[in-house]
Amino acid sequence: MKDAVGSLDALKASDPAVYAAIAAEEERQRDKLILIASENFASPAVLAAQGSLMTNKYAEGYPGKRYYGGCQHVDTVENLAIERCKQIFGAEHVNVQPHAGSQANMAAYLSVLKPGDTILGMDLAQGGHLTHGSKVNFSGILFRVYPYGVDRETETVNYDVVQKLAEECRPRMLVVGASAYARTFDFPRFQQIAKSVGAYLLVDIAHIAGLIAAGLHPNPVPYADFVTTTTHKTLRGPRGGVVMCKAEHAKAVDKFIFPGIQGGPFMHVIAAKAVAFKEALSPGFKRYQQQVIANAKVLAQGLLDRGYKIVSGGTDTHLMLMNLTNKGITGKEADAALDAAGIIVNKNAVPYDEKPPAVASGIRLGTPLVSTRGMMEAEMKEIVGLIDRVLQHRQDPAMLEEIRTQAKALCSRFPFFHTY
Ligand SMILES: Cc1ncc(COP(=O)(O)O)c(C=O)c1O
Repeated sequence: MKDAVGSLDALKASDPAVYAAIAAEEERQRDKLILIASENFASPAVLAAQGSLMTNKYAEGYPGKRYYGGCQHVDTVENLAIERCKQIFGAEHVNVQPHAGSQANMAAYLSVLKPGDTILGMDLAQGGHLTHGSKVNFSGILFRVYPYGVDRETETVNYDVVQKLAEECRPRMLVVGASAYARTFDFPRFQQIAKSVGAYLLVDIAHIAGLIAAGLHPNPVPYADFVTTTTHKTLRGPRGGVVMCKAEHAKAVDKFIFPGIQGGPFMHVIAAKAVAFKEALSPGFKRYQQQVIANAKVLAQGLLDRGYKIVSGGTDTHLMLMNLTNKGITGKEADAALDAAGIIVNKNAVPYDEKPPAVASGIRLGTPLVSTRGMMEAEMKEIVGLIDRVLQHRQDPAMLEEIRTQAKALCSRFPFFHTY
């Protein structure tokens, strides 16, 4: 199979500029302490499948029903991806063709909603995602959106408030899921709320899919009409999306993915999704996810112990939101200072933030990637110390430079991909 995956030597010879950028990106990923909650390192097997010549094949349609000849082998990988995904989550129907999480959500919406229908989803400013009804996104352009947020005191979802909002706006779809919410969702309760107003329930597990796959977070599949996910965050696969749904919605979902919103599926990515799903069914994946959560708890506790404020007081998952208001630091400042010290995070609005999103009062931290590298509780304690020093000395370039060397030294003790 010598030509099945690309050769970096061939790339170096034919396009030195792109080769150099990829080489520099490899160095950046190796040397920086990456705490972005939505990022991960895919395994060598996932990368090999994604970099394979399956990219060459057109396969509009579905396995056994394609618009092109020569689809035997891409049918094999798509069927493997579907069956493995069903096995992981227990879904009645799975479509593995969405190019990304946004397309998965778009197809789920369009399969039962019409433009102008009402959706009730978590506000972007309080942890939700763009595709859950933001004005600048297709979801906010096509649908009438009512947002729900978190309670000011507990900074967690108040289900009684969501029930009341649902009764007021009578949505056709209740949307659950988030990009910056660190607590366990009560899916049976959301199902109850949706049912009480005759709404469909869509749960977007993009962030927590890996935790669910490992049995470490409740699974919404039994409760929801639609469950969507990305495959590249905690699930640790290639960049992509998936829609799962009840059998009664199968036809509509398939029709809206293709020909509704997409053309030919990315068969190289679907092959890599199949590989990632096999990995997610392994005992090592469960051990990995246990470490992701254990690491997040140690990181959150360490920061709390040093007087930092964590939204909702901690985490049940792989991520946490630090609210830096009590330290007089903006999210933008913290993000920039940490970046200068080789620690990569993203600034993030906190609930009821008074600052604009481009400044924000917080930062979001996550442990999926550092856990993939094999970092454990001891390293999380080291990272707490580094973050604390950066924030205290954020205006001292020499100190930030010294910390950058230490962050790099910490990274150098770990491989790209630790075997659990
Ligand atoms: C909850 C949630 N849903 C959907 C998406 C969209 O995924 P993509 O960037 O693959 O379109 C994201 C991405 O961050 C997300 O956090």
